[in-house]
Amino acid sequence: MQGTRISDGPGGGDGELSPEEMEELVGNNPSQRNWKGIIIALLVILIVCSLIVTAVILLTPDSHINTNPKFTFEDLFDDAWKAQGVSLKWISEDEFVYRNGSDAVVKFKATDNSSTVIIKNDTFSDIDASRYRISADLQYALLIYNVNKRYRHSFEAKYSIFNVNTKRASVELKPDSSMREATLQLAIFGPRDHQIAFVYKNNIYYKNSYATEPVQLTFEGQEGVVFNGIPDWVYEEEILQSHEAMWFSPNGTHICFATFNDSAVQDVAIPDYSVEGSYYAIRKIKYPKPGSTNPTVKISVINTGNPSRVLNLEPPADIKAQRDYYFSSVVWATDNKVAVTWLNRRQNLSIICICNAVTGSCSENYRQTSTAWLRPHIKPMFAADGSKYFIQLPYSQGNRGKFPHIAVIRADWNGYPFVQTAGGVNKVQEFLTSGPWEVTKILAYDQMTNTVYFLSTEETARSRHLYSVSMGSAQDRKCLSCGLFPNCTFYDATFSKNQKWYTLHCLGPDVPRVTLHSTTDEIGRKVITLENNSVLRKRVSATQWPTYKYQEYTIEDGNTYWAEMILPPDFSEDSKYPVLLDVYGGPGTQKVQETYRANWATYLASTEGVIVVSFDGRGSGYQGDKVLYELHEKFGTVEVKDQIFVAKELGKLDYIDETRIGIWGWSYGGYVTTMVAGEGDGVFKCAAAVAPVVDWRLYDSVYAERYMGDPHHPKNSRAYDAANAYSGHRIKEFSKLQGNFLVIHGTADDNVHFQNTALLNKALVENDIDYRVQFYTDRAHNLQGQKTKRHLYRLLSSFFRICFEEPKKEGDDE
Ligand SMILES: *[C@@H]1O[C@H](CO)[C@@H](O)[C@H](O)[C@H]1NC(C)=O
Ligand SMILES: *[C@@H]1O[C@H](CO)[C@@H](O)[C@H](O)[C@H]1NC(C)=O
Ligand SMILES: *[C@@H]1O[C@H](CO)[C@@H](O)[C@H](O)[C@H]1NC(C)=O
Ligand SMILES: *[C@@H]1O[C@H](CO)[C@@H](O)[C@H](O)[C@H]1NC(C)=O
Ligand SMILES: *[C@@H]1O[C@H](CO)[C@@H](O)[C@H](O)[C@H]1NC(C)=O
Ligand SMILES: *[C@@H]1O[C@H](CO)[C@@H](O)[C@H](O)[C@H]1NC(C)=O
Ligand SMILES: *[C@@H]1O[C@H](CO)[C@@H](O)[C@H](O)[C@H]1NC(C)=O
Ligand SMILES: *[C@@H]1O[C@H](CO)[C@@H](O)[C@H](O)[C@H]1NC(C)=O
Repeated sequence: MQGTRISDGPGGGDGELSPEEMEELVGNNPSQRNWKGIIIALLVILIVCSLIVTAVILLTPDSHINTNPKFTFEDLFDDAWKAQGVSLKWISEDEFVYRNGSDAVVKFKATDNSSTVIIKNDTFSDIDASRYRISADLQYALLIYNVNKRYRHSFEAKYSIFNVNTKRASVELKPDSSMREATLQLAIFGPRDHQIAFVYKNNIYYKNSYATEPVQLTFEGQEGVVFNGIPDWVYEEEILQSHEAMWFSPNGTHICFATFNDSAVQDVAIPDYSVEGSYYAIRKIKYPKPGSTNPTVKISVINTGNPSRVLNLEPPADIKAQRDYYFSSVVWATDNKVAVTWLNRRQNLSIICICNAVTGSCSENYRQTSTAWLRPHIKPMFAADGSKYFIQLPYSQGNRGKFPHIAVIRADWNGYPFVQTAGGVNKVQEFLTSGPWEVTKILAYDQMTNTVYFLSTEETARSRHLYSVSMGSAQDRKCLSCGLFPNCTFYDATFSKNQKWYTLHCLGPDVPRVTLHSTTDEIGRKVITLENNSVLRKRVSATQWPTYKYQEYTIEDGNTYWAEMILPPDFSEDSKYPVLLDVYGGPGTQKVQETYRANWATYLASTEGVIVVSFDGRGSGYQGDKVLYELHEKFGTVEVKDQIFVAKELGKLDYIDETRIGIWGWSYGGYVTTMVAGEGDGVFKCAAAVAPVVDWRLYDSVYAERYMGDPHHPKNSRAYDAANAYSGHRIKEFSKLQGNFLVIHGTADDNVHFQNTALLNKALVENDIDYRVQFYTDRAHNLQGQKTKRHLYRLLSSFFRICFEEPKKEGDDE
């Protein structure tokens, strides 16, 4: 489960309002016509209107009526509202490759601002290719077509090898030259020349150059069961967050890869109603649930010069001694040293081992433990010479607790000794940063100037800025992005080889832009704009866009937390507005972020006059370990309480109608919404849960056990029971919503299984509770597809429109 990525509605498609919705919009027609009455009424209206207009003009001479269009429901499906980013790959000190706004692949040279076309855009359209990869020597590209999406990151596709010089894409990438073509699960170029590694039917193949035949590296792959070079379902979703499980060494002389054996893992069955004929099909996925058998994993390394010799990299004894374990990352240090991070199943012990790729021997380098869980997805970044690495580790900030900061850790070779504790274990050499804020990403290390570049939340938890810090002078930390562009406070960045250049990606709150900068003094902060979304920028400024307000709330633990209020464009404190609480709530995540968004909340605020609020309470991310670990073995407690608390606080505001507050969420947010419904606190008038988890025993082992432990242990079992959203004492409370509870789920959800909504339905029906449900046939967790998205948001909009209708005043319906 990863954050929410739920509101990307693709454009196109058709859709009309249903008759019911038309009626809602125009109101009920009077059944009889009384002409005299109508004329009198019209006269009265005319007089009243002219009085109001006069009053407005007299009383508020500054005000002007905003005639710009609103952000409409149709805009939700129009790609023109999406900001264009620049997804680029640095290929040298001064050059990067990216796909430009007209879909051509272009090489940009930072030293003279020159662009060279590498692949023309019509090359893609000729074979209907949607994606590409480019070789290190820029001689070849892989054009990827017939793409079939699998899970969040993975897809199967065909790959055509494109020759950049002859501009021809004539050869298919395939495991055997006797085959005409092949559907591959992955193909990547190595860092040397145009070497390629790819996965076909769960086995890895390696091709040294364009002309040579591929060599098969693994043989025991079995589709859906034994995976080489690609992850199984749970590693893809929860650990690697990618569909790649093989890694070339920096010079391409070795490949390290993982093998996952899921043969003892149980299947989940997903119905497939799209098959022709009278019988529907069942698709099975190996999916480990909490407390059940996990996949086993093996890490191996080969030398690309002698690929038939496979070395196994063993985990350290303390990890092996555990019942079972994971690996969480593979990072090359030098061309023959590779760091493998191992993790016990409980996810409170991790060991970084450094392995010799020539001999296969590994030694423990750094060990970390946690009283709760170890933050996932943190991996070491090595100095170019491999002598040390940088990694975010928890660093104590007095009574504020620990925050992730940049630790420098020595590797144990090249004459660099460990920094040893009394027990002979490696320890942190120094912390480069400190303070009650988080380092969110370590981007680059310049060995010449001893400078580390990173992103952090130092300004506020809602922002991300780019900073540099030098080893040995941590006090000279510099912010490189602060104040650079107006209303840009949320950045990402990439660095060129040797750190001479960097690209800054401003993601908001202003319309995003991508710029190129130099790290050297003589050019300083001079800027080249790569993308400024100028057309979108004009569109946004000519639209009645919502305004954003950030508000701090102090909750029962005495700490303050941020709420974000998305206000209608014509917001006035003298009016009364309905509120929709938009919740996620999962551990370590964040909703209150200063990013550009054009989504359903934009529509609700701009067109429907709803105030949309998000609140990051206890358990949320980027505010240190103390806040984060509030959810340790306690799902369904404080993260739910804090949403209810903030809704009550909002209800006290003069401009908010406390009788019209709703809540909605997707995934973990669907869980929180369902938990809120089971609180029966009377704060919310209506609630909509999309693809909710209702019982953490039904989710995957890696995610649920990280936070909640193994449900077979009695103590944890009680925590899982308490977190159940439809347990006995809660289910009765759902009736207080008086039918205003809506549950939505895709029947082909491989992530949060339809099982959750099915079991919730059973419990609600058995308790005689009215509610509403919508399923989407053959749709997965993100309810993909233009027509599905349109149907979904029309349903949600109408559900909340009815909920937020002002109660009829007396005398209205005579
Ligand atoms: C993309 O690159 C091609 C070739 O240089 C150029 O013709 C085209 O204008 C570029 N498109 C954009 C949006 O920059
Ligand atoms: C290809 O690029 C040209 C400009 O270089 C542009 O006019 C054309 O629309 C592009 N075609 C596609 C399919 O994007
Ligand atoms: C590249 O463009 C930037 C910004 O327009 C300019 O300052 C710089 O002089 C240019 N460099 C060259 C070599 O033309
Ligand atoms: C996978 O694990 C099973 C036991 O669960 C074992 O029988 C089988 O040999 C393993 N397969 C491979 C390729 O390691
Ligand atoms: C890669 O090879 C180059 C030259 O062959 C060498 O200078 C460099 O040290 C190697 N890099 C690594 C990380 O081994
Ligand atoms: C990890 O968690 C388990 C179960 O709570 C506990 O028994 C063990 O001591 C913990 N390990 C560490 C290193 O804290
Ligand atoms: C920055 O945002 C504020 C508040 O939304 C707005 O008033 C101001 O005009 C914006 N500035 C620029 C340069 O866009
Ligand atoms: C955006 O980029 C275009 C083309 O590069 C340029 O003409 C324009 O001045 C830029 N606008 C801003 C606001 O930087």
